[in-house]
Amino acid sequence: MSAVPVLQPSSVPGRARGFLSGASEIDDAPVDIRGELPTWLAGTLLLNGPALWELPGGRLEHWFDGYGMWHALRIGGSGVRYRSRFCVSESLRRSREAGAPVFGEFGTANPANFFTRLRGPQVTDNPSVVMSRHGDRWLSVTESPFLTYFDPTSLETRQRLGLGHAGEAMHLMSAHGFTLPDGSYLNVGTELGPKCTIKVFRLAPGAVKPTVIARIKVPKAGYMHAIALAPGHALVWETALRANALAFRFGSRSYANNFGWEPGRGSSIHAVALDSGALRSWRVPPMMAFHATQAWADGGDLVLEMPIYDDRQVFEDLRIDDRRANRPLRSEVRHVRYRLREGRSEAEPEDIAGAAIELPQVHPARIGQARARVCWGAGNGEHGEFLDRTHRVDLDSGETRTWQRVDATQLEPLFVPRPGGSDDDDGVLLVPTLADGDETTVIGVIDARSMDCLAELRTPQIVPFGFHAAFDPARA
Ligand SMILES: [Fe+2]
Repeated sequence: MSAVPVLQPSSVPGRARGFLSGASEIDDAPVDIRGELPTWLAGTLLLNGPALWELPGGRLEHWFDGYGMWHALRIGGSGVRYRSRFCVSESLRRSREAGAPVFGEFGTANPANFFTRLRGPQVTDNPSVVMSRHGDRWLSVTESPFLTYFDPTSLETRQRLGLGHAGEAMHLMSAHGFTLPDGSYLNVGTELGPKCTIKVFRLAPGAVKPTVIARIKVPKAGYMHAIALAPGHALVWETALRANALAFRFGSRSYANNFGWEPGRGSSIHAVALDSGALRSWRVPPMMAFHATQAWADGGDLVLEMPIYDDRQVFEDLRIDDRRANRPLRSEVRHVRYRLREGRSEAEPEDIAGAAIELPQVHPARIGQARARVCWGAGNGEHGEFLDRTHRVDLDSGETRTWQRVDATQLEPLFVPRPGGSDDDDGVLLVPTLADGDETTVIGVIDARSMDCLAELRTPQIVPFGFHAAFDPARA
């Protein structure tokens, strides 16, 4: 094996340093505060994301692939403190031991040889994507059915729970689950086979076996990164990227390449009633999507708002070499609304007025409860610049307000509501950014209504670009 050097900051310029390996585990370090933090803002900001793409004998090839790291910023009366820890997944542990990736990842081919693959599927558990609460615990996941529990204060890895088992097979899982009011974890897994079964499940607090609420039989499962929660319903969509079950079981290709773009099959949106498991489905034109902005009920209709793509180009745009070279994006995101009418079996996307966004956010108290009239998200530039602005979009009028640092990448704007506030936008956004001239990551604290920057938090190191954040107000 030839040694693969860790790219040094000098070899990758400016904001693209956010795509480099090299972040350290830091125990407890001060965060530099510029400006005035709201006095009510107290708690722990948790960030998650890939942080290591190179090992001595091999490398990972996609932004999504890097071995995950958790970062915690504890915001309290005496200031802000930072800590970071690698997620000690099986994928990281075994790959470090081997000195090279042992598992295939999203955009990295499966390195296992044919005989190893014959013995059983080789599935990554690298939990670098989404953090969720389950009862009083925190877990972290990728798109496979493994839950990695961690301590949100120490960031120590606690326990790994595999959800797929003999009686209830599950090979894929949406990364974005929801915590229901009783602390249950709601999510969707997919059993691959000659025919596929999408399983909407609930994991009660403390439980280790999921209870399946509904099974949706489909000929060929679609790529699924998230689901949406509407009042009383889980909304599940099938993208036109269709899973090749045999390739997942025996093949050597990357996770992403086990899906084929099959627009002829179209796409579907399913609504599952959480109390009865009753299923309604609508056919929609072929699309690719990661996230929902929100879902809400309007009489007997359900409405789903989400960023979508017309092809799979976004997967290619986010390969690590392209991002380190800061190449323009070729994919285009649209922000659309599907009205899922009662008694109909088809729906068409309608463009939502205002700026197109990715990594969408709404007030967390609205999710699954009521319609939010304001959302936020990260936006791309007019010439394919990768996520370089933060938008607030009025979902009625389309009015867009934008916060933009000069020459910076701006990631998911996590909305933190002001305690006691009631408006959809009464709170702040916490936005990780890195500009060409920054020494370390700058987290913007943004008034979520005016989009004015109130303060900046400068972390002790560059936090590699991740996807999603969480806020735990109980841990100030
Ligand atoms: Fe996501």
